[in-house]
Amino acid sequence: MTDNASKSPAANGQGQAMWGGRFSAKPAELMQAINVSIGFDKRLWAQDLAGSRAHARMLISQGVIASSDGEEILEGLAKIEDELATGTFPFRDEYEDIHMNIEARLRELIGPTAGRLHTARSRNDQVAVDFRLWVRDAADRSAAQLEALQKALLAQAETYADALMPGFTHLQPAQPVTFGHHLMAYVEMFGRDASRFRDARARMNECPLGAAALAGSPFPIDRHQTAASLGFDRPTANSLDSVSSRDFALEALSAASITATHLSRLAEEIVLWTTPMFGFIKLTDAFTTGSSIMPQKKNPDAAELIRAKVGRILGSLTTLTVVMKGLPLAYSKDMQEDKVPTFEAFDALELSLLAMAGMIADLTPNTEKMAAAAGAGFSTATDLADWLVRELNMPFRDAHHVTGSAVKAAETQGLDLAELSLAEFQAIEPRITDGVYAVLTPAASAASRMSYGGTAPAQVRAQIARWKETLA
Ligand code: ARG
Repeated sequence: MTDNASKSPAANGQGQAMWGGRFSAKPAELMQAINVSIGFDKRLWAQDLAGSRAHARMLISQGVIASSDGEEILEGLAKIEDELATGTFPFRDEYEDIHMNIEARLRELIGPTAGRLHTARSRNDQVAVDFRLWVRDAADRSAAQLEALQKALLAQAETYADALMPGFTHLQPAQPVTFGHHLMAYVEMFGRDASRFRDARARMNECPLGAAALAGSPFPIDRHQTAASLGFDRPTANSLDSVSSRDFALEALSAASITATHLSRLAEEIVLWTTPMFGFIKLTDAFTTGSSIMPQKKNPDAAELIRAKVGRILGSLTTLTVVMKGLPLAYSKDMQEDKVPTFEAFDALELSLLAMAGMIADLTPNTEKMAAAAGAGFSTATDLADWLVRELNMPFRDAHHVTGSAVKAAETQGLDLAELSLAEFQAIEPRITDGVYAVLTPAASAASRMSYGGTAPAQVRAQIARWKETLA
């Protein structure tokens, strides 16, 4: 709290709180300490000014306030915007929140006319519209950053559309895939994440301004005008709902949490791939850090931190859900607690999205090492089984069994499947011919998976082309 907190609370210049008409004593210092929100809701200043301008213009055009008063208000707001943009605006705890800080400053600049701005408005609809505008911007930014990340992934996927790597299930080598295919899996995930933000935006894009305290306004306001001027599709249709709903933020935080979950999975893979035991990719000095004791270390800290951020982001969703749970209609001060978790979550998400896009562009795969690993662990065993089905017309279950025996024979001798002699294959199944060797290389295995969405480089390139068009 600033020094001013001990002076008159939310003073209007005459030692009286802005809402202090019926009060004869000042609130306790602790009351102010728990009540004040300017420390965090100052981040809503641009939205608060936009809302106030839209409201003032509407009041003028509806004849609720005189144009001369309205013009004075708008000029005062322009000065305040200047102060806020240049960092000279005096934020004061005694004015509680961003709404009253701006209104108090307006009064200092233009005098009592400032008091007309709050006609047909309450802080309840004011904060609802400010916060909605902020969350809408955050959702737009997240969607755009997701698309930038998708583009970074696409560029690498195109370069490495046929670079072989092991595909895993249970983190055990399963079947060969390509690095491009693997990266494109994340392009799909992040594409759905971006669309979740767009869906959330469409639902949140209704304007609560004009709901006033909770019941609407007796003044002849035009809510359609303010809604349109703030870029909303329409005004909200129930004044109680308008001031008391925060599901638009919950929905944006859910989309953020799912995105953060996807980011953490990719981050985990980067951590694995950069460890020398894998050695699949390298990050440059730009995206690694050293150790203060072990000179050889190059740690993927950014990936680790992105992996961790989901805790904060999902925590924010949990926080706001619990804040909202069980609240009776309409506005309750509990809702002031909506901002910190939401700001924190989107700060963390934005940084994660930007850092991830940076890391993806930064990484270089070790294609030899990945290709060698792609062939290890009998990764073409399924191809052998499929060959037995195709060429010998075996039921798949029998082919699976024969292949299992071949894997066992190879493993006992410390060989790969392709290193077994034809005689050894025929000892297991006499009808096997040397045609079998053609399907036992990782490259043939990957190239054969031409089904829609499969790992064959031609399929991967088709998906890359589709996404490039979508994102263009
Ligand atoms: N600072 C408050 C918030 O963030 C603004 C609304 C306060 N409304 C009220 N009636 N006290 O929710």
